[in-house]
Parts: sequence; C-alpha cells; structure tokens
Amino acid sequence: PSPYTLTFPECKKLQGKCLRILSPESPAKLYCCYAVITVLAAAVIALSVLKKRPEISECPINENNHTACSIDWIGNGSKYFYFSEDLTDWISSQKFCVEQNAQLAQFESLEELDFLNGHKNDSAYWIGLHRESTQHPWTWTDNTKYNDSVPIRGEGQYAYLSDRGISSGREYMPRKWICSKPNSYLQCPVVSQLV
Ligand SMILES: *[C@@H]1O[C@H](CO)[C@@H](O)[C@H](O)[C@H]1NC(C)=O
Ligand SMILES: *[C@@H]1O[C@H](CO)[C@@H](O)[C@H](O)[C@H]1NC(C)=O
Ligand SMILES: *[C@@H]1O[C@H](CO)[C@@H](O)[C@H](O)[C@H]1NC(C)=O
Ligand SMILES: *[C@@H]1O[C@H](CO)[C@@H](O)[C@H](O)[C@H]1NC(C)=O
Repeated sequence: PSPYTLTFPECKKLQGKCLRILSPESPAKLYCCYAVITVLAAAVIALSVLKKRPEISECPINENNHTACSIDWIGNGSKYFYFSEDLTDWISSQKFCVEQNAQLAQFESLEELDFLNGHKNDSAYWIGLHRESTQHPWTWTDNTKYNDSVPIRGEGQYAYLSDRGISSGREYMPRKWICSKPNSYLQCPVVSQLV
C-alpha cells in the first residue's frame, strides 16, 4: 500500500481532506476539476456579458429622442445627425465628423433640410458644402455636385445653415456644425426599434 493510504475509519474522520490524500492521482483530478469549473464560470460570465450588449436599454433614448451614446445623434429617416454645441472652423468641423464615421451634414431632400432647420438653434451651423472658388460648383464632402435646389447666398467657399437659409463664408470663421451619417453606422438601436 502507498504511504498515502489510510484506513477507512481514519478516512471518514478526515472527510474532505481524505479525498485529496487517499490516492496520489486525486490532486491532479481535483485541479482539473477546478480548471473545468473556472472555464465554465468564465464562459457563463462571458455569455451573459455578450448577450447583454445588444440590449436596447444600454443605449437609452431621452425625451428629445437623443441617444445616450458617446455623443447625441438624432435620427430622421435613414440618417443620424449631430448638432454641435461648440464653435470651430469648417475644416475642424469636418474633421470632427469624420472621426465619428460621419461627414459634415448632407441633405438629400427638402424634408431633410426642414429637419435640420427645425432642430438647429438660432446659431449658424457649418454643413458639408464647399467650393474651390466662386467660379466652381458647390460640392458635398464626398465630392458629389450640389444640385442647387436651394440657392446659397454670398461669395464664400464654405456653406452654413442659419435662419436666413444657406449662406457662405470663410473657412476660419468659428461656427457650430452639423454632422450626418447613415444610421447603419450607428452602433445603437434606431428609435423605431423602441416603438
Ligand atoms: C420622439 O419620437 C417619438 C416616436 O417617433 C415621437 O412621437 C415624439 O414626438 C418624438 N419626440 C421629440 C421631442 O421629437
Ligand atoms: C436636388 O436636391 C434636392 C435636395 O438636396 C432634392 O430634393 C431634389 O430632388 C434634387 N433634384 C434633382 C433634380 O435631383
Ligand atoms: C424628418 O424630419 C421631417 C422634418 O422635420 C419630418 O417631416 C419627418 O417626419 C421626419 N422623418 C422621420 C422619419 O422622423
Ligand atoms: C439649443 O439651445 C438650448 C438652450 O441653450 C440647448 O439646451 C439645446 O441643447 C440646443 N440645441 C441644439 C440642437 O444645439
């Protein structure tokens, strides 16, 4: 008999401890058991975390239909818009939008333009239209041509939206800005999924 073997009564006294010393192969089995339990527990935790992620409650929408994600995007139709509180020049505004996987705001319909006009404050907001000179056509940030559906005032190269409609100015003027992006880029659920 191995030095680890105990008689039955001794063993019963030692109860749990006995199991570990009764046979030399037991500790290995036990560690294996711990390992399996640890892996299973980790898997259960990981699954519950993963399962939780797409839940709508993690991206609540407040009474103004703003999502509580990193920045407030407001949905309208197939797009999301961000209205800045800060002021900066046109180039920095566009840089900000690109960092959010967006562009300075582009409207594809007059309804969308109405939406922008309805949501902005009294201030002027940079939008995604610019031109190389007064001799050049207005283009969007993706280089598609603007169809001149709404005339742009002024002799500037960079367009902004204000209570007077769309005007143009110099790049370095600090203004608020609006970003837009297709809602497929947004990691949060769209408002319509909640209702
Ligand atoms: C928010 O969205 C709901 C459902 O689309 C709409 O009924 C409500 O008027 C919206 N509220 C605001 C403040 O836009
Ligand atoms: C021109 O653009 C406006 C809004 O950007 C859109 O409503 C209109 O249908 C467009 N017109 C043509 C002829 O493409
Ligand atoms: C988008 O905004 C326009 C103008 O405010 C509104 O008429 C339209 O119902 C909105 N569309 C959606 C899908 O919220
Ligand atoms: C407009 O101004 C009000 C008051 O200053 C502010 O609470 C609100 O967030 C602003 N809205 C936008 C779209 O910037």
